[in-house]
Amino acid sequence: MKKWPAIQMLSIVFFLTVIVQTAEAKPKYIGAAKCASCHKSNYLAWKTSSHAKAFNLLEAGKRKKAKRLAGLDPKKDYTADKKCVKCHVTGYRKKGGFKDIKSTPQLAGVGCESCHGAGSKYAVLHDKKMYGFEKKEATNLGQLYGADDEAVCLVCHAHKDSPFHEKLDNKYKFDWKEKLKVRKAYHPKPKKKSSFSFM
Ligand code: HEC
Ligand code: HEC
Ligand code: HEC
Ligand code: HEC
Repeated sequence: MKKWPAIQMLSIVFFLTVIVQTAEAKPKYIGAAKCASCHKSNYLAWKTSSHAKAFNLLEAGKRKKAKRLAGLDPKKDYTADKKCVKCHVTGYRKKGGFKDIKSTPQLAGVGCESCHGAGSKYAVLHDKKMYGFEKKEATNLGQLYGADDEAVCLVCHAHKDSPFHEKLDNKYKFDWKEKLKVRKAYHPKPKKKSSFSFM
């Protein structure tokens, strides 16, 4: 009789620990500058890409024709509009992610982690294991692979919340395999095949 409350207490404690651990286990967004320290050429290429500059599209006067076509007001500033920001920044309202342009300017635009996942955990793996980690280890720590999984891109592209989709104009059709080839939209393929190996 007396044992039960103790066991219940224990299971509650256990349950709470699981919750706390799960919360702790969630990786945080760290920003492209952190990736740049080891991936400089990708960073420099990305910096000039359309994804990196995607936040600016929300400013008044940018892409007037496209905005008009989508029934948006080209004179309006959409940079603080909740309906827009999530797909034009990195990790909107997530841990370590973009809040607003004043407090988190470094996360404006579609950054590395929009396509590769929040980096606080897998960046440590890259550092520790260098060429010797397996994809599975990386994905366990929150890394995403947009070339394996279309869903990585579809949170923004061809999404029902985007004003710019196929129904508006066929040029917005998102053919994933084709779009992956447009490397200038993010960063080029490495010149030599990555010396990545399973060790
Ligand atoms: C301390 C150095 C370091 C940091 C910081 C770092 N990486 Fe890496 N990363 C590496 C190394 C080394 C490799 C393995 C060699 C390669 O494929 O370029 C790698 C591999 C990768 C790969 C290829 C993975 C695969 O399975 O082939 C991606 C994608 C990547 N990093 C993205 C990022 C992103 C995004 C960030 C920032 C959130 C980041 N890295 C931070 C060192 C780092
Ligand atoms: C669900 C994600 C999502 C939301 C929400 C979103 N966008 Fe975008 N936006 C995109 C994607 C993806 C593209 C690129 C479309 C393409 O070129 O295929 C884009 C492109 C644009 C462009 C460039 C269009 C062109 O043809 O030049 C502008 C301007 C833009 N968005 C403004 C906005 C504004 C303003 C809002 C809010 C009213 C908004 N977006 C909300 C995902 C989104
Ligand atoms: C629009 C999406 C997108 C953005 C933004 C992006 N990448 Fe990638 N990156 C990819 C895809 C897709 C691959 C192919 C492998 C995969 O599926 O992750 C890739 C591959 C890589 C690789 C492996 C070698 C290679 O080039 O194939 C590294 C390293 C990397 N990215 C680093 C970065 C860093 C650092 C940034 C930011 C400065 C960044 N990426 C921004 C989509 C993106
Ligand atoms: C966080 C939202 C987001 C994610 C995730 C994202 N994109 Fe984009 N992408 C955009 C926005 C916004 C633009 C519009 C840039 C512009 O018009 O200047 C864009 C533009 C592009 C373009 C250039 C325009 C075009 O359609 O030819 C390509 C290519 C593209 N994205 C491919 C990809 C691929 C491939 C992935 C997944 C690996 C991906 N994107 C992931 C938001 C995103």
